[in-house]
Amino acid sequence: MLEVQGVTVDFDGLRAVDAASFRVDEGCIVGLIGPNGAGKTTLFNTVTGMIRPSAGTVRFAGRDLARLDPADRSRLGIARTFQIVKPFGGLSVRDNVLVGALTRGQAVAEARRTAEATLERLTMTHLADALAASLPLALRKRLEVARALATGPRLLLLDEIMGGLNPTEVNETLTLIRALNAEGLTFLIIEHNMHAIMQIAETVLVLNQGRLIAEGEPAAITRDPQVIAVYLGEPLEPA
Ligand SMILES: Nc1ncnc2c1ncn2[C@@H]1O[C@H](COP(=O)(O)OP(=O)(O)O)[C@@H](O)[C@H]1O
Ligand SMILES: [Mg+2]
Repeated sequence: MLEVQGVTVDFDGLRAVDAASFRVDEGCIVGLIGPNGAGKTTLFNTVTGMIRPSAGTVRFAGRDLARLDPADRSRLGIARTFQIVKPFGGLSVRDNVLVGALTRGQAVAEARRTAEATLERLTMTHLADALAASLPLALRKRLEVARALATGPRLLLLDEIMGGLNPTEVNETLTLIRALNAEGLTFLIIEHNMHAIMQIAETVLVLNQGRLIAEGEPAAITRDPQVIAVYLGEPLEPA
């Protein structure tokens, strides 16, 4: 579904992503882990079109995305959440989700129905009239997911949505991801919560200093000496 081939991103002499190649197959949940500054969010930005790579190609559903801007890519079915959650704080929860639905090109009445259905799906209907800025972190993160889902994605990129959540909220998030995946949504998930990502991902990619240094099943990744050396520090204990 998503094919990243030799993607390189340079920022004023800093090579943030260095010839990264990987694929995400339709229906999968793929994890992307690595230290701070490894280039994970930058890689997401090349998929959504916010950043153009200096080399390499990104293909989605067989199409080269090079000439497509973020709005085009959204219409093709790519959605993402932001690591630093940035809802429209002065808008209600409902209207934030409506903004997502409107980017599909739906008429307003239909977009309103999409927004209501999305809120219902994420058990946020009771919060619809609250100002986004008034929500606690866990719910602002859930709103990010709602806004992204309302665009009607086939591939959802999640950027550290479990940071700052308590264990109950993490479990709720994992349950939600599994349910959406069972309904056909494909995921690429950046996450620092290792227990969470190792539970949910079928395949894990490890990025370090812009380079993909390992790729495999969670059990193999947690035992990989190089991954332990650069990121995990020590083998993960069972949760
Ligand atoms: N827009 C930008 N301009 C310049 N440097 C950037 C920009 N975005 C990210 N970087 C740098 O690129 C590197 C990778 O950043 P990032 O992709 O945010 O890493 P991660 O998400 O893995 O923590 C870091 O050194 C960061 O400072
Ligand atoms: Mg990041």
